[in-house]
Amino acid sequence: MTHITFAKGDITTQHVDAIVNAANSSLLGGGGVDGAIHRGGGPQILAACRALRASRYGKGLPTGQAVATTAGRLPARWVIHTVGPVWSASEDRSAALASCYRESLRAADELGARTVAFPAISTGIYGWPMDDGARIAVRTVRETETSVDEVRFVLFDDTAYRAFTEAIS
Ligand code: APR
Repeated sequence: MTHITFAKGDITTQHVDAIVNAANSSLLGGGGVDGAIHRGGGPQILAACRALRASRYGKGLPTGQAVATTAGRLPARWVIHTVGPVWSASEDRSAALASCYRESLRAADELGARTVAFPAISTGIYGWPMDDGARIAVRTVRETETSVDEVRFVLFDDTAYRAFTEAIS
């Protein structure tokens, strides 16, 4: 049974086996969570991402997929990079967002990670409405078979924290 918990704060400080990065397809860094993870984790993360671009992901990591690297200097052992969909008012991309959570848990299982921290994927620069992003996140984690013991949603502000804790009730 996977235990779902919530924390308000910075995902890079979490003492878990794996933290999930809200990356972009290039895997070469960005702002938000991506920027914080690369800044905190150091150059080893970018080096590992570059190696992935030079091998399995020559064209970049597709939206909805997940791939793991070292976490460098961060307390976590691994970073699981996933690429969320950009919000669209005209196209329902919910399945791609759900896939980020499901594929990240699959990557965690492959690593043998037992505790995993997620940010609120796509709800920042990619513009996804927080309430809907929270609903998709909680529902997908609840319905995914995984060996992960704890999924911790790490929310950056009160709005996000409230949206997620309300999505679970
Ligand atoms: N810890 C936890 N949550 C954070 C942190 C942090 N250090 N920094 C930002 N957040 C929150 C944001 O407030 C938002 O709710 O994470 C959520 C996701 O925001 P983004 O990081 O902007 O990610 P996303 O919306 O998925 O956009 C991805 O942004 O940083 C670039 O390279 C990234 O192009 C990609 C895009």
